Amino acid sequence: MEPAKISVWTPATLANINVGFDGLGCALSAPGETLIMHRNAHRGSVCIRSIEGANLPLETDMNVASVAAKSLLQTLGNPCGIDIDIIKEIKPGSGIGSSAASAAGAVFALNELLDAGLRPDELLPFALDGEALASGSRHADNVAPALMGGLVLCPPEGAPMAIPIPSDWHLVILHPDCVIRTEEARQVLPLEVPFRDAADQARWMGVFMAACHRGDGMLAAFALEDLLAGPFRIPLIPHFDAVRRVALEHGARAGGISGSGPSTFWIARTQEECAQVASALKTLMKSVNMDFDVHQTRISHQGSRVIQ
Ligand code: HSE
Repeated sequence: MEPAKISVWTPATLANINVGFDGLGCALSAPGETLIMHRNAHRGSVCIRSIEGANLPLETDMNVASVAAKSLLQTLGNPCGIDIDIIKEIKPGSGIGSSAASAAGAVFALNELLDAGLRPDELLPFALDGEALASGSRHADNVAPALMGGLVLCPPEGAPMAIPIPSDWHLVILHPDCVIRTEEARQVLPLEVPFRDAADQARWMGVFMAACHRGDGMLAAFALEDLLAGPFRIPLIPHFDAVRRVALEHGARAGGISGSGPSTFWIARTQEECAQVASALKTLMKSVNMDFDVHQTRISHQGSRVIQ
């Protein structure tokens, strides 16, 4: 007998990671969001009952979780209806995969609730139907790691690929309290980039991949040159230059914009260095009177998972 209700937790994600615009992302150990899905007898009906922790639309066609769930429910033949409650710890528009967590959590929960047996990569297109509503584009660099966990490469064609995680990365995520909508952050990007930058970016991505496979996390951090999107998005991020200077001065090895911002990520080699970077960034944010959240986190092997 399939359960009448299921609770799942889905991690926040760090996308692009400087070298892999729209193609590279990883799951974080925290924060995340909880989604509770209830089955009912109204076949094909998908209803968002409540959202805690964020002010987001409840209308079925306006919410990424319900759009993603509806897409999968239809493909499975609408055997039932569902109600969804969401508890968000990931702030929308913060650049750490808030919409992806909702979309991935919804399809993962439905797959479990109906015992449909789809693999995470098979759930991806349905989650992307939800993600596309939020960002206006079907990039999988947040949704794929949210579903699969770990570090994931999403090639232009074909299934997402798991990449070995740089095991010595300790991450600080700094979220200055403002919202940048992915759709808007994509509008500042150029349609074309210089050939030289594209070639160099491919070389840095190659170094990053080789370093991950060699287990050399510091070489992977060294390779994080953002030549394509970063230069155009830095002006959108409050105090980016000061944040970068302070993070690097206090022990961060590398960093950049998380997804489409405004969050930034900074890589430290140890827990202690990570705490130092976090503390220095807190002091900086207070000195410029900017509200903020700081997360000290790791790359997590786990994507969406059942918690109840
Ligand atoms: N790759 C995406 C972007 C991530 O940078 O626009 C944000 O969803």
